[in-house]
Amino acid sequence: MMSNLQTLMLENLGSDTNQKTWTEDGLFNHCYNVVFRAGYLALYGNTTSKTEGDEEKAKAKDRAESEKLFNEFRKYDQLFPNLVYGVLPPSGRREALRLMRFFWDFLSMKNTEIKDNISGWIWDMQNMRKEEGMSDSMIDRYMFVLLWAAQGNTGPSSFWLLLYLMKHPDAMEALRKEVDTVLKESGQEVRPNGPPVNLTHEMLMKTPVFDSAVEEVLRLVAAPMLTRSVVQEMTLKMADRREFLLRQGDRLAVFPYIAVHIDPEIHPDPLTFKYDRFLTPEGTRKTDFYKGGKRVKYYSMPWGSGVSMCPGRFFAINELKQFVFLMLVYFDFELINPEEETPQIDRRRWGFGTMQPDREVKFRYRLRY
Ligand code: HEM
Repeated sequence: MMSNLQTLMLENLGSDTNQKTWTEDGLFNHCYNVVFRAGYLALYGNTTSKTEGDEEKAKAKDRAESEKLFNEFRKYDQLFPNLVYGVLPPSGRREALRLMRFFWDFLSMKNTEIKDNISGWIWDMQNMRKEEGMSDSMIDRYMFVLLWAAQGNTGPSSFWLLLYLMKHPDAMEALRKEVDTVLKESGQEVRPNGPPVNLTHEMLMKTPVFDSAVEEVLRLVAAPMLTRSVVQEMTLKMADRREFLLRQGDRLAVFPYIAVHIDPEIHPDPLTFKYDRFLTPEGTRKTDFYKGGKRVKYYSMPWGSGVSMCPGRFFAINELKQFVFLMLVYFDFELINPEEETPQIDRRRWGFGTMQPDREVKFRYRLRY
């Protein structure tokens, strides 16, 4: 993940890594593009230099192919809400099917098994399904389901985090201070034409302020609708003592965003980004939140809950933190218009995981050193 991220993050700067000129981009597109492509390469593997002749050619192929995959994924992403609601016009349905066929082929077993560094997760998923007797064409389709689950949320989450940091200079300063200290303590520094940063898991475990900002951003922008089938009759007991009889065969939808994330009793001033909301005065992780005087067990549920709780949450946090850490240590970045209002959430996407903005936000970045 780390080497893929650095290759993609530094690629647009050209060969002169000394350059200090600003590069302008759309923040949403920038974050989603880099995190999606690096995550895809980390999960589905790299092109091998054996087939391409040398490593540079293999890297160039990865860059070109992951860019194409991202562009097609964004088209699908935009059709997705209406596809789910069943209201796509015939032309939209045809386009969605074309895109799905593209992904099934692109991510197919025959195309992934020739890659290097394929992740254990994807490898195991393919082999497990094969051993269960699933047909190859169905496994190819399943690979696209996994890509959608794995790559549709982390990029948008990193967009919101960087946006909130730019809108809240105190948060930006606190995070920069923390990551700079962690980098320094690891004996590394970023310098022109110096070696790439070697960001280890150990370094990422020493960032309580950063962790709080990540939890806060997910509280604000992760709004999944959790659906469950009732497999046997039961009584659901609510915290306020109300009880509901659930019949076998009933379907249930839980929407923690309204029930928990933006409940002002649990999270005062709930629509405001407070980077230190999940920090105790001692600077450790805060886990005690209250409603009606009682401690709340589930005070934020970006990953869902129970048996189908997001299995990729640790990977997601790592991806997000690695990307933002590198942005903070390598780059200065700022909004083109600092007065610009924070965009609204695209309402068509409620319930589908991390929300997307209803418009793009322009920003610029340049190397810090
Ligand atoms: C910020 C990023 C992410 C968010 C907010 C997120 C959120 C979620 C949520 C809410 C669910 C449904 C949980 C439930 O029904 O209780 C889910 C399921 C899932 N997620 Fe994630 N996820 C993220 C990243 C990832 C990543 C990076 C991967 C893989 C590497 C991943 C793989 C999956 C899979 C396979 C499922 C289906 C689990 C099942 O049905 O058993 N997710 N995710």
